[in-house]
Parts: sequence; structure tokens; C-alpha cells
Amino acid sequence: MKTIVITGASRGIGLATAKKFLAENWRVIGTYLNTQMPIQAENLFAIKYNQGDPESIAGAVEEIKKISPNIDALINNAGILLDAQDTTADSVKVRNTLEINVVGVVDLTERLIPLLQKEGHVVNLNSGYGSISAPILDDETSSGYRISKAALNMYTRHLAFRLESKGIIVSSLAPGWVKSDMGYMVATDTEGPDRTPEQAADDIFKLVTDVKETGKFWRLGKKTDW
Ligand SMILES: NC(=O)c1ccc[n+]([C@@H]2O[C@H](COP(=O)([O-])OP(=O)(O)OC[C@H]3O[C@@H](n4cnc5c(N)ncnc54)[C@H](OP(=O)(O)O)[C@@H]3O)[C@@H](O)[C@H]2O)c1
Repeated sequence: MKTIVITGASRGIGLATAKKFLAENWRVIGTYLNTQMPIQAENLFAIKYNQGDPESIAGAVEEIKKISPNIDALINNAGILLDAQDTTADSVKVRNTLEINVVGVVDLTERLIPLLQKEGHVVNLNSGYGSISAPILDDETSSGYRISKAALNMYTRHLAFRLESKGIIVSSLAPGWVKSDMGYMVATDTEGPDRTPEQAADDIFKLVTDVKETGKFWRLGKKTDW
């Protein structure tokens, strides 16, 4: 049985992804923080994990090692959006966002690399907001979030390069505008999310199981520009 670690598996895209991989007979190690894991399953292992706390990250890695000495995929899904409606860059929010969306992801991933199998896959959940070359997404809001996702994209590119010789694949994936708590934070009176968490989970499943190309940014099943 293959093993996947999914951060932020307690709701939204992470929860749908956990359900998808369980249905496909994977062992799922899913993390939660403030939301109790709403599902139970024989092959689901729930771990409390705070991506903004180095001690919690180190503790979660020890728990993961006890559950499974090897992992086949890591989905860095947990993330925050603190400045959804802000039209200025608040340095406190930028710092907090970077701590959780970038530094915490790097800390967890680097600690889990020794457990990753050949042909293992690391997927970093990204966003059109993290793209530098997608002017269609330009508006005044979410400065800290955008900066964090652009930085995470560089981690994807660089980690892919570092792990290529080990046969480990590293990808960024933008799930589109998804009907989750975060997705609705940026909704307006006239525009809102159009994708379900289950559609995003299907994209993640296909990426992990089908794609062997490393160091790419994926959106709606296709490669997209950084
Ligand atoms: N929704 C969209 O339209 C959209 C678009 C582009 C990219 N994304 C990306 O997709 C990913 C998932 O988004 P989502 O919409 O599913 O978000 P969401 O509904 O807000 O869920 C966020 C998840 O992250 C966890 N989390 C938050 N802060 C955490 C922390 N400090 N440590 C550990 N876990 C933490 C939450 O856990 P608890 O509830 O247990 O605290 C929850 O499970 C994010 O990386 C997001 O940036 C989403």
C-alpha cells in the first residue's frame, strides 16, 4: 500500500484529497490544526500539526516516521490567506504568511525528503496569484499571499533540481478558484469560486499518479507559466 502525507487535510482541498486517496486504497497521513479531522478510516492517520511552529513540525515528522518509514507522496496543501481584501502590504501579515506558507513548508519537506521513495512526488499547492507572468490575475489585493506563493514556486523549481538525480518529482499545482473557506474569502458580489474541492483533488491525484516530469507548474491538468 502506498503512503501519502497531506497537510491541512481537515477541510477544503486537503480533506477532498484525503478522501480521494483513501478511495484509491492509499494509506493517508493527514494533518489538522484547529479543525478536528471530520472523517475516520482504517487507513487514515490524523496528526496535529502547526506549520507555523518548528517544534510541532519536528514532532509531526517523528509521528509520521512511526506510522510509515517510507512515503510515496507529500502534498503541501496547508496554507493561509491573511490579506484577502487588503490593498496595502501589512508587514506583520506578510511575515506571518511567509512563516506558514513558505518556511513551514520548507521545514516539513526537508525533514521528510529522506523518507521519500524513488518516483515519489512532492506537490506544493500554489495559486494563479503566485504566478509572476499571469497579468490576468493582477488586482490590488493579497500582496503577502502572492509573495508567499511566488516564493513557494521557486522552492518547487529548486527542489526539483536538487532531487532529480534521486528520481523524486516536485511540482507546483494551482487548483483554480475552489469552493472552500479560503476560496470564498476572495469572492465578490458578482464573482465566486467555480471549482469543487473534489475537482482539485482529482487534479492532485492525476498529477501524483501520472506525471513523471519534474519542476513544473500545473493548472487544470496543463503546464502553466511561472
Ligand atoms: N481555495 C482556492 O480557491 C485556492 C486557490 C489557489 C490555491 N489554493 C491553495 O490550496 C491550499 C488549500 O486551500 P483551501 O482553499 O482548501 O484552504 P482552507 O479551506 O482555508 O483550508 C486550509 C487548511 O490548512 C490548514 N492550516 C491552516 N493554517 C495552518 C497551520 N498554521 N498549520 C497547519 N495547517 C494549517 C487548515 O487546518 P485547520 O482547519 O485544522 O486549522 C485547513 O485544513 C492552500 O495552500 C491554498 O493557498 C486555494
